[in-house]
Amino acid sequence: MSHLLHLDSSARTDSFTRRLGEAFAEAWEGGGGEVTHRDLAADPVPPIREGWTRICDTLLREGITDIARYPEAVRTEQEREAWAVVRPLLDELVAADAVLIGAPMYNFGIPSALKAWIDQVTFPRMVLAPRKFVVVAARGGVYGPGTPRALRPQRPLPERLRPRPLRGRGHRGDRRRTRQLAGRPRPGRPGHPAPGVRRRRAVPGRRTGHQAGRLPHPEGGLSAVPWIWLLLAGVVEVAWAQSIEPTRGFTRLPQSALCLVLMLGAVYLLSRALRDLPVGTSYAVFTGIGTIGTVLTALAVRHEVPSPTTLAGLTLITAGLLTVHLGTPTP
Ligand SMILES: Cc1cc2nc3c(=O)[nH]c(=O)nc-3n(C[C@H](O)[C@H](O)[C@H](O)COP(=O)(O)O)c2cc1C
Repeated sequence: MSHLLHLDSSARTDSFTRRLGEAFAEAWEGGGGEVTHRDLAADPVPPIREGWTRICDTLLREGITDIARYPEAVRTEQEREAWAVVRPLLDELVAADAVLIGAPMYNFGIPSALKAWIDQVTFPRMVLAPRKFVVVAARGGVYGPGTPRALRPQRPLPERLRPRPLRGRGHRGDRRRTRQLAGRPRPGRPGHPAPGVRRRRAVPGRRTGHQAGRLPHPEGGLSAVPWIWLLLAGVVEVAWAQSIEPTRGFTRLPQSALCLVLMLGAVYLLSRALRDLPVGTSYAVFTGIGTIGTVLTALAVRHEVPSPTTLAGLTLITAGLLTVHLGTPTP
């Protein structure tokens, strides 16, 4: 039977991440799976202390990476006390085939209760694959003008626990589901356990034999991607600008169709960049690339030589684009 470890960390009992996590766990149980639920907010784990760090030092020094051999690094009374906290958490984690983490955003990060759990169960060169990690995230802050949309430090921490970063559909799926929720969930509405439905509490001591894999290096380094979308949008915009004149005032059908396709393509690519970059920056870069590209293309194709004044303007635009890029935080 497949086993899900379900972690909640919202301080609210009436919570989006709890509601989404509950739906996930119910679907898991509906498919014949078993669920262990740990409520880190209601039943917090303590922060790591000296004994924990000493166990960790021994693991490193003696090159112990097999989780089953961790007890060998527990030697002193202080370390035994620390291990008494770690062991049930680690047993739960090892016994799970998948881990579902409810992670609300608190002050641009994850709740301290969740962070404490991560600190307790994460050891050097630990192997957790092939377990799947699913993060259900929610955030709801009001951002004033100028707040970078890229400011999302909530993501990296849960990602450190994933055998493979869940890019693309995983994140967007979470975001989409979160957006669909209007208003705060109420007990008795979908997502709350139906009367009589009970979830098993955490039970230490169960293990399964899972094999190799590695924790990923934190953050996969995709920060250039939105800029690439923006660059492509600018390039297509240049092609679009060049395609306008051959339409002869939109009197020629094939040319007009091409022109409209290029225009829509440029707007679509711009919209992809806007998922991660601020609209002001994106639009400035988009139009800047368009301006420079159009002048250069006119020079190459129609031999329209720009005047010195135009060249000076283009140089200023290029310098402006570089400044905008340097001044924009990467997502
Ligand atoms: C202490 C606290 C800090 C928060 N900080 C942020 C924040 O920095 N950014 C944000 O977008 N939302 C923030 N929020 C709003 C929560 O992310 C939002 O209410 C979310 O729905 C919480 O998830 P939950 O419904 O599962 O509890 C904060 C909420 C609380 C209670």
